[in-house]
Parts: sequence; structure tokens; C-alpha cells
Amino acid sequence: MDILTLGIESSCDETSVSVVKNGRIILSNVISSQIESHKEFGGVVPELASRMHVQNVIQVIDNALITAGCKLEDIDQIGVTFGPGLIGALLVGVSAAKSLAYKLKVPLCPVHHLEGHISANFLQDPELEPPFVCLVASGGHSHIVECIDYGKFKILGQTRDDAAGEAFDKISRAIGLGYPGGPAIDKAAKNGDPDKIVFPQVHFDGSLDFSFSGVKTAVLNYINNTKEICVPDVCASFQKALVSILTENLMKANRATGHNKIVLAGGVAANSALRTSVSVMAEKEGAKVYMPAPVLCTDNGAMIACAAYYALKQGRVADLELNAMANISLETI
Ligand code: KG4
Ligand code: ZN
Repeated sequence: MDILTLGIESSCDETSVSVVKNGRIILSNVISSQIESHKEFGGVVPELASRMHVQNVIQVIDNALITAGCKLEDIDQIGVTFGPGLIGALLVGVSAAKSLAYKLKVPLCPVHHLEGHISANFLQDPELEPPFVCLVASGGHSHIVECIDYGKFKILGQTRDDAAGEAFDKISRAIGLGYPGGPAIDKAAKNGDPDKIVFPQVHFDGSLDFSFSGVKTAVLNYINNTKEICVPDVCASFQKALVSILTENLMKANRATGHNKIVLAGGVAANSALRTSVSVMAEKEGAKVYMPAPVLCTDNGAMIACAAYYALKQGRVADLELNAMANISLETI
């Protein structure tokens, strides 16, 4: 019998709802982005985000059901991001999910946001199974994770300061390319010389942790102290430094675990230079590489539905006491 999962994501500035069949087949993935509303403030305004989720969530649920060609009563299971993220934004999705689970009398599965990002790869590639190593890089997190089994993760390294996406967003704002910074820098870098300016790359001995504040400060100093900057060159050089740090640690993690399966996830996984760099390095080392299509890298409901499907298989179900959590480790789910 087919299982239909409705996944709800509202941890940041996207209200997204999806219907996924049997954990891996996307029937709909409706994403209502708030980017235009936050742009003028140069980043996400938490209070505005929560209010917009409230305004949008019902309509997005309806659209997801219509696009999937099913009725609410056809849904077998609800999945929702319960953390980490903006607390007011998370609460909207969690409340909607609890109401639906109560009305339909179906299981409610709590999904960790990063577990969702990693699960986007199961939607992209039906053959992919754990174990593997994964780089999860988004606006709020930069982790190297060993996915031991569905829903079972070990953090091998993480950022000690800024997240990779945060560094992209801050440099973009400083250079006048606006929010969100990642796609803008990615685009501008295509016309720039990545070897024009050498920005520092921090690596820690015996650790897979990241630090991006040094490269960020170096770029900001360069922008402030240089009379006429060439925006594409700065973008390409900054992106090269960041991508090198991410790729190098990911490859080290693959060697250390010996899985020879390398996975990318999170908004920064949409970055074209990172995708190329990891593909090239993986091929050199004989490892298989997996990455979601860009639309599945950034926040979406389908990745949450997929993770919820596997959570239910493992008996991870919440009751109506489920609460949103702004901070929660991937290892504790
Ligand atoms: O995963 P996501 O949609 O939301 C969070 O969980 O944070 O990631 C958003 C982040 C933003 O910082 C954005 O600038 C970055 O992902 N991003 C990119 C690209 N597309 C989105 N960074 C680099 N290159 C891109 N093409
Ligand atoms: Zn995300």
C-alpha cells in the first residue's frame, strides 16, 4: 500500500509543503518564498517571517494537495520541521502539523531541519542508502556529518564561528549584491578570476571543524581598503577560498570513514563552484558523489516529508505536546 506523507517546512523564510509518495517520490513541492519581503532589510527579519508563515501556510497546504492530486483524507502521515530555526517561524509549521495530525488521526513525525536537508538526497537519487559522509552547509549551519543509518548521525566537524551561507550573505551585503548572498556571489563569480586575490583558508590540525570568520574579515578588509574593487574578482576569490575549505574537510572525512560515498546538502550545496570542486575531487579519489538539484538544496517541504517517512519506519512519532526548538543537535534526535 502506498504511503503519502505531507511535509511542512517553516524554519526560516520559506513556507513549504509537499506530498511525497513512499518516502522517495515527490508528488508536489510548493515553496512560498519570502525573500522579496526580507530583501530591503538585507536579511531575514524573524518577526516578519513568522507573520508571513501564518498568512501563507493554509494556502500552501491547499496548493500542495491540489498539485499532488489528492485530498487531505488521503494523507497517511504528517512530517514537520520542529527545529532548529527561528522559533516563531517554526511554531507556525508545528502548530499546523499538529492540527492536521489531530484532525486526520495520523502519525506526526518531528524532523530535524538538517536531517531534512540530508534527506533531499534520497529524493534526488533513489539508489542512495546510508552509510555516507555529508557536508550540510546552509545559512545557519556548516556540519560534516556521518550518516550511519536513516535518522542516525554523527557530527564529525562543524563551524566554530560563522556558517558558510552566513559568510556568503555577509560578504554579498558588504559588496552591494544584497540578500540572499550565495546565489548573487555564485553568479558574479562566473565573470571573475578566482586566483586574483588570495584570501586565507583556515584548517585545524586533527579536526574537521571549520572557521569562516578569518576569510570573511579578510574580504571585508580588502573591500574597505581598496579604492576600486572588481566585484567579480572579489566574489570568485572569496568563493574559491570557501569552497576549498569545505571540499578539503569533506574529502578528509570520506577518507577517515572509508564509505566512499560523498553527499552534499543545504542551501550552499547549490553553489556551482562547490558542486564542481567536490565532483572533481571525488572522481580523483574514486568516491561516488551525490547532490540534490538546486531547488532541493534550499529549504523545501519534500525533504521534510522524506525524512518523516523514515522516522516513522523507526517509530519516531510525536504526540500533540510536540514543541518547536530553536536549537537542537542532529545527534539527539
Ligand atoms: O538551507 P537554506 O535554504 O536555509 C537555511 O537552512 O539556512 O540555505 C540558505 C543559505 C543562504 O545563506 C544562501 O545564501 C545560501 O544558502 N545559498 C547559496 C547558494 N544558494 C543559496 N550559497 C552559495 N551559492 C549558492 N548558489
Ligand atoms: Zn535550511
